[in-house]
Amino acid sequence: MQTSFRNNFLSTKKATSALTRLPPAFVALLVQLLALCTMLLVANTLPLQKLTMFEWAVLQGVTAATISHQLKMPIWWFLIHLIFTPALVATLALSLSPLWFFGAFLVIALIFGKTYQTQVPLYLSSQEAAKTLASLLPNKKKFSFIDLGCGCGGLLNNLSKIRPNGSFHGIEAAPIPFLLGKLQAIVSTPNKTIQWGNFWKHNLSSYDVVYAYLSPVPMQTLWHKACREMQPGSILISNSFIIPGVKPEKTLELNDFTGSTLYLWRIGENTE
Ligand SMILES: C[S@@+](CC[C@H](N)C(=O)[O-])C[C@H]1O[C@@H](n2cnc3c(N)ncnc32)[C@H](O)[C@@H]1O
Repeated sequence: MQTSFRNNFLSTKKATSALTRLPPAFVALLVQLLALCTMLLVANTLPLQKLTMFEWAVLQGVTAATISHQLKMPIWWFLIHLIFTPALVATLALSLSPLWFFGAFLVIALIFGKTYQTQVPLYLSSQEAAKTLASLLPNKKKFSFIDLGCGCGGLLNNLSKIRPNGSFHGIEAAPIPFLLGKLQAIVSTPNKTIQWGNFWKHNLSSYDVVYAYLSPVPMQTLWHKACREMQPGSILISNSFIIPGVKPEKTLELNDFTGSTLYLWRIGENTE
């Protein structure tokens, strides 16, 4: 009995870790399909025919969220699975023109489309993060700063105003945030530039400070890139995400709405 429980436990654990190696969007699709099959099974076996379409959707959402919880997917997937089908059914009930859905799909794809590859969605640094970052930057000496994945450029905008002695650069891969940032850069402070592109292809050797607010996924690779390219004495700062196995020189807890933390590493002669 105990052995079979242990074997079941181990095979579930193995299946979960195999799933985590698949692209998250693919796992999400599997979860939704599994929840849908469960609903079809329930509909055929239990006397629940009186439920409305929306109630079925809520049941499907709860099932999908429970599966994602069992698979130990990050908490945001729990929420996405919970509301996905109910939101779909509620929106369809509004009988809107398909053009609205196409428009919404395009906007979402142009903001979050690359998340499938990069596994870094768009969320913005807080004002508190900008203030604390500014306090770490030289206030007279010239310096260069890059924001890897600069979103709409809001952080660069704040910093370039507080530290006019710095030159600020941002790279963004998502078209809509890039365009918003670029437009703002044209009309605002002259010490700020924003380019469209992939920061993995951008050399970091000319920057004194490299800032990254990404996700846990790319941090190890970012560290290797920083060690290869950044000059001794330059600084890498990450908002919220640590580099596994590399102790930061400084850790600054922020008093913002997400309770985030800034981690700072100084690149040395032989850092790796
Ligand atoms: C969490 S947001 C941070 C935005 C901004 N840096 C801030 O702190 O407010 C991360 C951004 O990085 C962008 N990104 C992710 N991988 C990228 C890559 N390889 N090249 C360029 N941008 C990337 C995403 O599109 C997203 O806008």
